[in-house]
Amino acid sequence: MELFEALKRRHACRHFDPKPVPRELLDKLVYAGQRAPTGGNTPYRKMVVVTDPKVLEMAKLVSPGYFGDTSTAIVIYTDLEVAERGLGRLGRDVISLYDAGAAAENIVLAAYALGLGACFIKSYSDTALRRILKLPEACRTELIVSVGYPAEDEPPPLRQRKGAKTVWLNEYGRRWKQGER
Ligand SMILES: Cc1cc2nc3c(=O)[nH]c(=O)nc-3n(C[C@H](O)[C@H](O)[C@H](O)COP(=O)(O)O)c2cc1C
Repeated sequence: MELFEALKRRHACRHFDPKPVPRELLDKLVYAGQRAPTGGNTPYRKMVVVTDPKVLEMAKLVSPGYFGDTSTAIVIYTDLEVAERGLGRLGRDVISLYDAGAAAENIVLAAYALGLGACFIKSYSDTALRRILKLPEACRTELIVSVGYPAEDEPPPLRQRKGAKTVWLNEYGRRWKQGER
C-alpha cells in the first residue's frame, strides 16, 4: 500500500480480531519504529514487543485507555540515563518524547500499510507497566501501540474535530488553502 493510502486509512483502531499477527509483519513494524529519527542520533529509544497473552493481559489491566482484544502491543520506552548523558535534561525530559511519538507513528502507518490496525495508548500506569515488563529502574515508558487485525465490524472512525486542520501560510491568520498555488 502506498504511504498516502496508509495515511488516509490510519485512525485509532479500538476494535480488533484477536488472531495473532505473523512474525514477519511484527519484524516490519519493529523496523518501522527503528527507522524514526532520534535527537542527536542518541540511542535512548527502545521497544518491547509484547505477544505473550499473559503479559498483554497484565498490561491491559493497568491501562484504562487500552481498548480491544489485540494480540500484540509494542511499548516504546526511553533509557533515561542514555538520554541524559547524551543530551542532558532537555534530551531526557523533552526530546525523547518527540522520538517516541515519531517511532509510534511510523509503527502505526506501517501497520495500516500491512493491512493491520493500531492505536496510540498513553492512558496507563508507567510504574505498573515498567514492573510488568521488568524494565530497569532508569527507564520511562512513553507509549503503547496496540496492534492487530481490525475487527470486521469495526465502527467507522471518528471525524476530526473542528479546528484540527488549521494551517496558516507564512503568518498567523493567512489560511493555507489546500490545493491552491
Ligand atoms: C499521544 C497520544 C495518546 C493517545 N492515547 C490514547 C489512549 O490512551 N487510548 C486511546 O484509545 N486512544 C489514544 N489516543 C488516540 C487518540 O484518541 C486519537 O488519535 C484521536 O481521538 C484522533 O482520532 P484518530 O486517530 O482516529 O484520527 C492517543 C493519541 C495520541 C496522539
